[in-house]
Amino acid sequence: MSLRVLQYGATGQVSRELIRQAAGFGIDLTVLSRADADLADPERCARRVAEHRPDLVILAAAYTAVDLAETEAVLARRVNAEAPGAIARACAAAGAAMIHFSTDYVFDGRGGPYAPGDPTGPLNVYGETKLEGEGKVLDACPRALVIRTSWVVSAHGKNFVKTILRVAGEGGPLKVVDDQFGRPTAAADLAGFVFSVAGRLAQARAGDPVFGLHHFANAGETTWRGFAEGILELAMGAGAPAVEAISTSDRPAPAARPARGTLDTSATEAVFEVRPRPWRDAVADIVAELKVAA
Ligand SMILES: NC(=O)c1ccc[n+]([C@@H]2O[C@H](COP(=O)([O-])OP(=O)(O)OC[C@H]3O[C@@H](n4cnc5c(N)ncnc54)[C@H](OP(=O)(O)O)[C@@H]3O)[C@@H](O)[C@H]2O)c1
Repeated sequence: MSLRVLQYGATGQVSRELIRQAAGFGIDLTVLSRADADLADPERCARRVAEHRPDLVILAAAYTAVDLAETEAVLARRVNAEAPGAIARACAAAGAAMIHFSTDYVFDGRGGPYAPGDPTGPLNVYGETKLEGEGKVLDACPRALVIRTSWVVSAHGKNFVKTILRVAGEGGPLKVVDDQFGRPTAAADLAGFVFSVAGRLAQARAGDPVFGLHHFANAGETTWRGFAEGILELAMGAGAPAVEAISTSDRPAPAARPARGTLDTSATEAVFEVRPRPWRDAVADIVAELKVAA
């Protein structure tokens, strides 16, 4: 019998890739959009778990507007902390396993790369609310996997790959921050990882090392500028325009960002026996998909 998975989130980068890949993994997927389950109403959306009785719940929706969160802290906290906590309680009550996503922005970036157990210290409201959400999920549901990821990109939605290609296409000046380090991650690779481990999670008992905090990101650390150069090389080859290096202080933003929130994925690679591919390979697939769509 195929695995019954209930997914919160229909339109986000990770949500779309999960939807796209579910059939290939033989997953029986039910997707809840914002209209079906608004995370701003945590208790109401948590009731969906009891209604659907899934084997596994995936919470792929979140408040992800990092700068806006500085002025919408109440809403961000309800969506990123209270709703995940309520859904985790419902999962525990229904006997469902749960996958929740978090971020490298739970770290202050002064001591990266970070292993899952390293001390946290978010610099912004988004990171604070995501950290609170991690804690509420892990406290409420002993069969929960919280996956921190970073710099997520895909052929859909708003993301760095699409922004860089648009600015380059318009002939605009390319000035990109060169003093923030991290690991780009294709939503497609993250979704593939999730479904490749879903069956194991659904079978595993509380206390199994598959549960708790894990890190998943494509391989290779870079800066936003290095990332931009890689994207442009993949899309435009030798004709790629130059990318000027600027520093974080040259581009003030409402929310502070970690300088090196880089995720160390080695513990996750060992537990799940996975090896994330290099980010350039993953981004090459996105660039190819965008070319086909153009
Ligand atoms: N993007 C990144 O670089 C990044 C980095 C690290 C971690 N993460 C984490 O990875 C996970 C997936 O992120 P993503 O990149 O796929 O996000 P995304 O593309 O920004 O999509 C966010 C999704 O959440 C939904 N959503 C927002 N508020 C909601 C609400 N009140 N009720 C129901 N749905 C709501 C959005 O729906 P609408 O379309 O209706 O707005 C959208 O489907 C999140 O937990 C995020 O924190 C992301």
